[in-house]
Amino acid sequence: MTAKSRIKLWSIGGGKGGVGKSIVTLGLGICLAELGKKVILIDGDLGGANLHTLMGVRFPPTTLEDFLLRRVSRLEDIIVETQVEGIGLICGADDILGSANPTYAQKMRLMQQIENLDADFILLDLGAGTSFNTLDMFNASPGKIVVFTNQVTSLQNAYGFIKSSLYRRLCRVFAKDEDLLWLIYQVGDKGAESGMQSIRDLENRVAQALPEKWPRLQQALDDYQAFLLINMVKKSQDLKAIDIIQTVCGDFLNVQPQVLGALAFDPGVETAVNQMTPFPIYMKKGRASAAIREIARSFLITCRISRGFAASLAAAGLG
Ligand SMILES: Nc1ncnc2c1ncn2[C@@H]1O[C@H](COP(=O)(O)OP(=O)(O)O)[C@@H](O)[C@H]1O
Ligand SMILES: [Mg+2]
Repeated sequence: MTAKSRIKLWSIGGGKGGVGKSIVTLGLGICLAELGKKVILIDGDLGGANLHTLMGVRFPPTTLEDFLLRRVSRLEDIIVETQVEGIGLICGADDILGSANPTYAQKMRLMQQIENLDADFILLDLGAGTSFNTLDMFNASPGKIVVFTNQVTSLQNAYGFIKSSLYRRLCRVFAKDEDLLWLIYQVGDKGAESGMQSIRDLENRVAQALPEKWPRLQQALDDYQAFLLINMVKKSQDLKAIDIIQTVCGDFLNVQPQVLGALAFDPGVETAVNQMTPFPIYMKKGRASAAIREIARSFLITCRISRGFAASLAAAGLG
């Protein structure tokens, strides 16, 4: 397989705050840099940008806001060097995208510019919640990582995040198809006559009522590929959370997220955060550091078997 088939741009989401999206982003980035890869980390948490703090940058000299407000014309000019060789950082801005209310096409242009940055890997750390801006960034990334813990609320939010991003994707793919959009909107609507409760019901209904559109729906579902990363694992039973997410995604959404890995709970992570030093550097031999190095190694295999940016844009209805 050629280097070209490697997925470069990855988003790290998960719906809930505090589950470790930023920790995973920076940990994975550091380990990939240690393996000789050129990495750019981007803080896409528009409500609570703090990736720079975790990376030891106290006062970001430039942020995404400088680019979005056109104070700086080229995206590469806002990349901040970090203390770690091989890692550039694009610091976050306050909710500039939310207040600017960009069109879908504008957001996709930004994602395309991000994808074009000179790096082996670009990791985009997303904020909590399921706002359209967050979902669109996630969906436009060919690589998708969902971070969660075994807490019930995290499971709910991770499933909700996957579900929302999948529905958002379907609405974009069929944006110009009123018949199909009408059916998509009815799924889960208890008042609707059709009684569709899941994507499986939607598929059956489309196969019956609009059979010529069924293959495209099937393709959009097949194209949706997300990877699960469970964080703060304390004991092996915690890993049951992975089965739960996979089962509900299979049963209700008809998608099969794969597992990227499990990151151990390690009190040293919090100490490293308070020292403003990335944890794999602060405690090279800790449990979490060992786990994230392992995850980075499997990531290098995973990123080769997933689909590329062009396919992701096509699936988002922009190909
Ligand atoms: N594997 C872990 N072990 C121990 N503490 C962790 C771990 N991952 C994250 N944390 C703690 O959780 C806090 C929140 O993580 P963070 O990545 O900022 O969450 P998010 O980006 O999802 O809001 C961190 O500041 C850290 O103290
Ligand atoms: Mg965060």
